[in-house]
Amino acid sequence: MLNPADLLTSFDPETGVIDGALRSERCLSDLRGIFHDADAYAAALADGDPLVYYTYAVEPADGPGDLYYAIGTILPGRIGDEYYMTKGHLHTWRPAAEFYIGLRGSGLMLLEDEATGESHLVPLEPNGAVYVPGSTAHRTINTGDEPLTYLGIYPARAGHDYAAIAERGFSTIVTCVDGRPVARRV
Ligand SMILES: [Fe+2]
Repeated sequence: MLNPADLLTSFDPETGVIDGALRSERCLSDLRGIFHDADAYAAALADGDPLVYYTYAVEPADGPGDLYYAIGTILPGRIGDEYYMTKGHLHTWRPAAEFYIGLRGSGLMLLEDEATGESHLVPLEPNGAVYVPGSTAHRTINTGDEPLTYLGIYPARAGHDYAAIAERGFSTIVTCVDGRPVARRV
């Protein structure tokens, strides 16, 4: 049994901060190559290196049946006409699925089957839970004008594989057209 003090963590759904958890940050310079408009990316980078998103992760135990959870917060913003978003990843252990639960703001999850390349966009909003099956690359996109905060629960052994999807890229991008998100195949 875990130490009773490790059984409960507290989080703030407004800020995405989990008390006592490890924070990691991604600035624009960490996201090279994911935005389709290279000129807009270079201009935004030259203008500073803004924070795009941050996460807090809780990893209480790493046995075969254990679970982790993390809260991600993507700030509002765009590079050219493309919304701020996460790098996206597959799980190193491909069968690992995940639940994403919206806490604040409005956004989309881009899910892409690794084997077929088939992709789906699913709304990520408060009171909604998105199921991410195994072997599915997933990226989160903030399409709103406030921070997008969500909680993900996944097997402890899932791991993060950023390289596989970075190499081939997602087949769909989401851009802002007349103030609204529009998906486009690339
Ligand atoms: Fe994941």
